[in-house]
Amino acid sequence: MNDFSYRLITWQKQYGRHALPWQNTTDPYAIWVSEIMLQQTQVSSVIGYYQRFMARFPTIAALANTTEDEVLQHWSGLGYYSRARNLHHAAQTIMDNHDGQFPQKFETIQTLPGIGRSTAAAIVSFAFNQTQTILDGNVKRVLARHFAIAGWPSHPKIEKQLWALAETLLPQADIVAYTQGLMDLGATLCTRSKPQCPLCPLQSSCEAYQQNLVPTLPTPKPRKTIPEKHITMLIFMQGNEILLEKRPPSGVWGGLWSFPETEATNNFATSSGEKYGMQVAVTQALPSLIHTFTHFKLHIHPQPLHVTKQMPQCHDSTRRWIHIDDAMGVAIPTPVRKILQSLSHAQASNKHA
Ligand code: ADE
Ligand code: SF4
Repeated sequence: MNDFSYRLITWQKQYGRHALPWQNTTDPYAIWVSEIMLQQTQVSSVIGYYQRFMARFPTIAALANTTEDEVLQHWSGLGYYSRARNLHHAAQTIMDNHDGQFPQKFETIQTLPGIGRSTAAAIVSFAFNQTQTILDGNVKRVLARHFAIAGWPSHPKIEKQLWALAETLLPQADIVAYTQGLMDLGATLCTRSKPQCPLCPLQSSCEAYQQNLVPTLPTPKPRKTIPEKHITMLIFMQGNEILLEKRPPSGVWGGLWSFPETEATNNFATSSGEKYGMQVAVTQALPSLIHTFTHFKLHIHPQPLHVTKQMPQCHDSTRRWIHIDDAMGVAIPTPVRKILQSLSHAQASNKHA
């Protein structure tokens, strides 16, 4: 056993995390769901979602047999919704092409939607005790520091080098503690800011520590300024009901329910009349919200519109009127949830006034 893995495994057993809801199981489905949720989201945010998701969809069959809408409902607020759609789609693929059994072959697992090399490695090591290395953002940081590797770790050239290095570090035994140890070290000691090198089991061999390079490694991503976009969310209101629209399956918030949107910044009365077949009274806009995606920053201007007259118009399945309080229970993105909360507070305080 190499020194790196030996020290990491020993440390994990004593100081690592052992009681997370997806640990102490070898059910590949339970592990898979956790790894997908944890891909871009912190443990503390994931735990509640994970428990509700597993209670509602305890098996691959249960997940495959539900609607995408219900899967998204359980994901509502977690973000990066393609993860949920891929999970659902992959569950159906497993039912159709793999007899309902989660595949055990490392290569086969990677053909499922949403499962890349690192996620596949985490699943096979935790569920099947197979020796494969993970390489997520935390592990890249640990390796870039420990081996003093400069350059942005997700640059294809550097990433290739890190995969090769990570493979040479794999232990002969104890792959579960080793994989968890890589995750735990990156999450608890070798953190992005204020790493706790004095407590680190790898300190004596860490090149960044020895050469005073810890604050400058890993090399940050070359920054482009991200584009900004302004949209108005149209909040059609009739009594306690609001109008929601199902967003197209691809793109941000694909498949979620949201307010109708426009890039126009005025003339709401005329344009909504034309497009939605309604006469409306425009009232004061609500405070704007900013939502930051990986690739752009969205400024949302919520505009309440009180419907005074609705023209006869066929409503298809992508639009629905819904009571404000019931809207909280459907698959909606976080900013829409925030707007609904402020609307529902405003209504409650009106009632009491
Ligand atoms: N991040 C990704 N996978 C994880 C896991 N299994 N435990 C804790 N954090 C994680
Ligand atoms: Fe990370 Fe510090 Fe440990 Fe090096 S010594 S691996 S920089 S925590």
